[in-house]
Amino acid sequence: MLTYYIQTYGCQMNYSDTERMETYLSALGFKKNSNMKKADLIVFNTCSIRQRAEDRVLGQMVRMGDLKKNNKNLIVVVTGCMVRTPSSKYSEKRDNLFNTIKELDVAIKNDELPLLAKLIREVKPNLEIKEIPEETLESYFQIDPTHSSHKSNSQAFIAISNGCDKFCTYCIVPFSRGREKSRPMEQILREAENAVKNGAKEIILIGQTVNSYGLSTYDKAEKTFDYLKKEPFVYLLEELDKLSEIGLERVRFTSSHPKDMSDDLIDAMSRLKTQMPYLHLPVQAGENEVLKRMNRPYTVEQYKEIIRKLREKIPGISITTDIIMGFCGETDEEFETTCKFFEEMEFEHAFLSQYSNRKGTYASKKMKDNVPQKVKHARWHKLNNTLKKTSNKALERFVGKTLKVLVEGQEKDEWFGRSEHYKEVRFKSKKDLLGQIVKVKIDSHDDFRLYGKIAK
Ligand code: SAH
Ligand code: SF4
Ligand code: F3S
Repeated sequence: MLTYYIQTYGCQMNYSDTERMETYLSALGFKKNSNMKKADLIVFNTCSIRQRAEDRVLGQMVRMGDLKKNNKNLIVVVTGCMVRTPSSKYSEKRDNLFNTIKELDVAIKNDELPLLAKLIREVKPNLEIKEIPEETLESYFQIDPTHSSHKSNSQAFIAISNGCDKFCTYCIVPFSRGREKSRPMEQILREAENAVKNGAKEIILIGQTVNSYGLSTYDKAEKTFDYLKKEPFVYLLEELDKLSEIGLERVRFTSSHPKDMSDDLIDAMSRLKTQMPYLHLPVQAGENEVLKRMNRPYTVEQYKEIIRKLREKIPGISITTDIIMGFCGETDEEFETTCKFFEEMEFEHAFLSQYSNRKGTYASKKMKDNVPQKVKHARWHKLNNTLKKTSNKALERFVGKTLKVLVEGQEKDEWFGRSEHYKEVRFKSKKDLLGQIVKVKIDSHDDFRLYGKIAK
């Protein structure tokens, strides 16, 4: 029997796409293989957000050369954000990756997954793969994901949109994933209901900017959501909230964009019982000139106002963010302003990235990547030190409290999971608690985690 192995890099969208590819490959007759060396088809689901992410994939290709020596039938596929043109090594118009990766057989964009079978046949015409019924091939969102990224059925990623229209000047995503398209509401609700019936207690809605769900240029032209009398994303959260009747307890979503953080959405977050006191809201910089150069369409003042409303409506809400340091032209003064803002906002966690020039973006074409690597690194350290302080302070408030933790896995003799505020909690127990929501009394913390004991 033919087998496959998928190596996934990047964000949750890629993990969700991998789950879709698993469904598709098993329909073709392939079986999952946990040993890369023994697989007949190896897929790299790639990320190109920073140069380092791409380098990691390219590093793996040397290994593919060795594996191909041992297995003449091995097929190497690259998918994800590094791919622009679906093609095989025999296609007339091939993706650029074929020029750099000689081991490559097929390159496929995530959302063009339905073309994969045809490209595999181009490379290996004699391979016995099954035909997939036409109706399952219309769009990639129609292919049901396996939800295998999580260890238990208690959690499920559900993609609600793909692509991005925001064109932040530093970002490759609008080029790699294309225009923003929202998935039809019925499809999402059907997938969610099935997941809950199958044991999901938590659903994580994913997309590049989830809170612009139904509002993109494409969505408006298609008039898909015209029948709704309210903001499509708010409607979606309300519909999902009804699934609490059949066992759904938590609905999270990521990432959100400040521009689409409406009062209605904040209100829905405060009143729906499946909504958690947690929001990841990437700000990228805390200085208005830098935000302008990044093409982030809000000011520091507007961002602060959103946070003020969130904290007023949802007391104790945990807010996390993303920051890029060392963006084109970022001066010491501008960075200092971001530092002050960062400290003042008391973010509970943050992904701190040193700017990485991405070919094809506006910044790459029109701006100078002129902050030296050393300075980027020093700025990262400075913000990371502040982050440790704000994270510690945020964790301190839970010591002595009993929290509900959704158990996600086990490491050595310790279970780990997330609290309602999305804090990682670790505790010991001899029982198998995977996928359950348990009560844990917190007794200590380090910089980023809480520790406790099962509460009676
Ligand atoms: N759509 C989300 C972010 C997706 S990318 C949003 O707009 O918030 C995830 C994070 O990677 C971004 O928030 C940003 O902080 C970082 N990032 C994106 N492009 C980058 C680049 N060229 N260099 C460094 N970090 C980058
Ligand atoms: Fe990239 Fe900006 Fe879109 Fe986020 S909103 S994916 S940072 S272009
Ligand atoms: Fe990377 Fe693509 Fe996600 S570039 S961060 S995998 S959208």
